[in-house]
Amino acid sequence: MENHKLIIANWKMNGSVNTVLNLLKPLNQFCNMDYSNEIIICPPYTLIQEAKNFSNSKISLGAQNCSDHTDGAFTGEISAKMLAELGCKYVIIGHSERRKYYNETSKIINSKILLAHSAGLKVILCIGEDQETRNKGNYLDSIYKQLNSDLNIEHDPNNVILAYEPLWSIGTGNAASIEQIEEIHFNLSERFENKYKIVYGGSVNGSNAHDILAINSVAGVLVGAASLNFDEFKKIIDYKN
Ligand code: PGA
Repeated sequence: MENHKLIIANWKMNGSVNTVLNLLKPLNQFCNMDYSNEIIICPPYTLIQEAKNFSNSKISLGAQNCSDHTDGAFTGEISAKMLAELGCKYVIIGHSERRKYYNETSKIINSKILLAHSAGLKVILCIGEDQETRNKGNYLDSIYKQLNSDLNIEHDPNNVILAYEPLWSIGTGNAASIEQIEEIHFNLSERFENKYKIVYGGSVNGSNAHDILAINSVAGVLVGAASLNFDEFKKIIDYKN
């Protein structure tokens, strides 16, 4: 596993122009030439242009979603090509909130991945089991099944980052344990012969991030709430190998 880790900030539907200034200005100063990880900031669409002012060789931009259509009469949608033109390098696809609230199916996810790739964007594909599946114990199978459907398209694994985000840990303050994360990451790495980088997401914060990032099979973290507070986020990005 490479030494540099990916630290992805998912702002969800939060933030304003002021948030960009308060968070990204100091972040840009902190992440200078000597900084060893890569930060990917995924603000809401409307703040991407503003956030671009603070991107640099260590801070990239991503979006939280894209349309499953190329272009045309799809009112309210934003295409992968538009995001690439705006300066995004990454796009999050299949976040559990999109699957849950916007009925995003694997078929839709397949289209989004194909369009993202043809626009030159790298995909951060979110996967993970719910509490019931975890309790039943068949969570590994359920994740494999999800991946088989979501990635049932021709794709270059170098352009897909998997984000293991157990649903029971997102926004709950209850991050998966080191053992639980190790188990999933190890098995996914084996099964897919280390073809994909795999990051962990779900209640990552300043107190648990470094232990999670120290796991060999963990390529980085996907951070929601804790990415909206500079002091908290700084503790996470401060990670050194
Ligand atoms: P959280 O969100 O860090 O607030 O749990 C993570 C995510 O949903 O990507």
